[in-house]
Amino acid sequence: MIWFPYTQMKTMKEPLTVVDAKGVYLYTEDNHKLIDTTASWWSKIHGYNNPHMNKAIIDQVNKFSHVMLGGIKHKPVMELSKKLESMLPGTLNNTFFSDSGSVAVEIAIKMAIQFFINKKKPRNKIMSLKNSYHGDTFKAMEIGDDGDYHNIFSGGQNTVLTDTTIEDLEINFKNHGDSLAAFIVEPLLQGAGGMKVYDVSFLKRARELCDEYEVIFIYDEIATGFGRTGNRFVSDLVEPDIVCLGKALTGGYLGHAVTVANDKVFEGFYGDDQDLAFMHGPTFMANALTCAAALKSIELFEQNDYLGKIKNIQTIAKRELSDLCDDRIADIRILGGMFCIEVKEEDTLKGFSEFAYEKEVYSRPFLKYLYATPPYIITEDELVHIINVYKEWFSKK
Ligand SMILES: Cc1ncc(COP(=O)(O)O)c(C=O)c1O
Repeated sequence: MIWFPYTQMKTMKEPLTVVDAKGVYLYTEDNHKLIDTTASWWSKIHGYNNPHMNKAIIDQVNKFSHVMLGGIKHKPVMELSKKLESMLPGTLNNTFFSDSGSVAVEIAIKMAIQFFINKKKPRNKIMSLKNSYHGDTFKAMEIGDDGDYHNIFSGGQNTVLTDTTIEDLEINFKNHGDSLAAFIVEPLLQGAGGMKVYDVSFLKRARELCDEYEVIFIYDEIATGFGRTGNRFVSDLVEPDIVCLGKALTGGYLGHAVTVANDKVFEGFYGDDQDLAFMHGPTFMANALTCAAALKSIELFEQNDYLGKIKNIQTIAKRELSDLCDDRIADIRILGGMFCIEVKEEDTLKGFSEFAYEKEVYSRPFLKYLYATPPYIITEDELVHIINVYKEWFSKK
C-alpha cells in the first residue's frame, strides 16, 4: 500500500483520487472539480497540463530522458546552467544539480562546511531561523525548527537558532560568529514553519554580519524562488553566497533542484589538489527531462509577466481579506503569491478541508495555518471564490 506523507496512517481520511488536472483544477474520481490552492506544495506555478510544458518534456523524451552527469554533459543542462547564471545576481554562477529541495539544502551545508575544511580552518556550526523548515533529510531536519514532530531530530550542539529580529541576530553573531560555517534562511517568507514573514532589513544586516564574521550566507529559496514573495528571487534584493532553488524550478512538472554557489565559494574547491573537490553526485542530477522542463518554465515565467500576475494575487487577496474579522483569527499575512490566516487554536480549522471540498476548493491547512499558494495563472474569480470559502467557514461557526 501507499505510505502517505506527514500522516498517521491509522487515522488518515481516505485521500482524494485525482484522475485529471488542468490549469488550477484537480478533477477527482468522484466528479469534483477543485481549485488547487496549494499548487502542489508551491510548485505548479503554471498550473496543470500546460501544453508548452508538456511539449518541452515530450520533445526531450524523444531525444533521451537521462544520461549521467559524470563525465558527460548535454544541451539542456548546458543551457539551464547558463540561463541560471544570467538570471541570478552577482557571481552566483556555479550550479550544482540534485533531485529534491532537501538534497539541495544538504549540498549547500556540505559545501559550507567543506569550504572551511579546505581552508584548514574547520567550522561546524550552522545558524538557522526559529520556525525554519529546510526539508526532511537529516541535516535539514537538524537545522530546522518547524514546530512539528521533526523536533525530535532538530537541534544539537552544532545548531544555533535565531529570531528574525536584528537584536537577536547581532547577539548570536557575537556569541557564535567565529565558529559558524553558515547562516541559512528561508528569505522573507518562512513556509512550513507557519507562513511567517519578516523584513528585508533583517537580510541586509545578516549580509553585513556574514561578511564581518566570514560566514557563508545561504538562501533556501526552494519555496520562495520564482516569484512567490513578489520578487523574482529574494536574492535579487540582498545577495547570498549560495542559493537553493527547487519546486517551481521545473514549474512543478518534475522533481529537481539546484544549489548555486558564488565564485568565492566555488574557488574554495578549485585547485590542483583532488582533496579539495566537492565529492557529491546524485544519480539523477541534471536529468535531461527536468532541465528541459526548467528551461521552458523559466521561458513562460519571463514571457508572460508573472511578476504582474503575482502582484495581482497579492492585491486581490488584500482587498478580499480586508473585511475578514473573527475573534478566532490571530493574524492574516499576505505576501506576493501567498496568503495565510493564522488562527489562535488548531481546532478552529478542523474539518475545513472537507468543507472546502464541498465548495470545490482543495485546501490543506496545517497546525494553525490556513494558507494558499496558488498557481500564478489563477484568475480573479477563482481567488475570490477561495477567499469566500474562507469567509463562509468563519461565518458559519
Ligand atoms: C523552504 C524549503 N526548503 C526545502 C524543502 C524541501 O524540498 P523537497 O520537498 O523538494 O525535498 C521545502 C519543501 O517544502 C521547503 O519549503
